[in-house]
Amino acid sequence: MKITIIGTGVVGQTLASKLNELGHEITMVTRNPEVTKSRTEPNPMSGVSFADWYKDNKNIKLEAYTTCNVDADLIILATKGDSSVNALKEVGKNNLTGKVLLDISNPLDFSGGMPPTLFISNDDSLAELIQREFPLTKVVKSLNTMNAFLMVNPDLVPGDHNVLVSGNDADAKSLIKELLESIGWKQKNIIDLGDIRSARATEQLLPIWVQLMIVFGSPEFNFHIVRK
Ligand SMILES: NC(=O)c1ccc[n+]([C@@H]2O[C@H](COP(=O)([O-])OP(=O)(O)OC[C@H]3O[C@@H](n4cnc5c(N)ncnc54)[C@H](OP(=O)(O)O)[C@@H]3O)[C@@H](O)[C@H]2O)c1
Repeated sequence: MKITIIGTGVVGQTLASKLNELGHEITMVTRNPEVTKSRTEPNPMSGVSFADWYKDNKNIKLEAYTTCNVDADLIILATKGDSSVNALKEVGKNNLTGKVLLDISNPLDFSGGMPPTLFISNDDSLAELIQREFPLTKVVKSLNTMNAFLMVNPDLVPGDHNVLVSGNDADAKSLIKELLESIGWKQKNIIDLGDIRSARATEQLLPIWVQLMIVFGSPEFNFHIVRK
């Protein structure tokens, strides 16, 4: 597939490397490609700078929000949550119309320090906000409830554990489920929670996820739903 990833942080990089390895054609989108390519500060999660990461991933195209021409079967949104809607507006409605958009971003507000709060919650979610702003785009929320490295390597945590999927369009969700299986997620561990409204539930898992990370001192864990 042709996949455009909006976002160059650890989530964008990790998914880009994995999906590139699986044979997909990847384009990454950023505010300013030259500025992004020249970043030498190590990412706090991966310990690797964008410049060094890009040296090993040179076949991935890097384009700007405002000038990109999105010709993709799938768009992945991996921007800072409070920038997600603006980033999409800069990419432009025309680039998004009719496309499947996998939203991984979380509505985290770090302005008060750790732990972050949610800037949208209860009776709304970031995924729903995106779906309302871009009604002709098929938004699917998934992978937002786990660490970036686990997204592309479920075996990082032993045993069964789950990935949750929300979205209004059945075909768009099928595409995402197939992608998840191709990455290594077992079909039985992919839970379809229903329409995009159900993204409220997964975004609101973030406070407990952050608290568990603080307690464990590691992000290498996941939620496992045990049923009778
Ligand atoms: N890190 C994880 O393990 C993890 C796990 C689950 C979900 N998430 C969610 O995934 C998303 C990405 O996380 P991340 O850790 O990879 O990176 P991040 O630091 O949260 O976001 C980096 C991206 O946000 C863009 N951005 C930042 N400020 C912006 C602004 N003012 N306007 C437009 N774009 C802006 C950056 O654009 P440039 O490319 O131009 O710099 C960059 O592409 C977040 O919403 C996060 O909550 C993260």
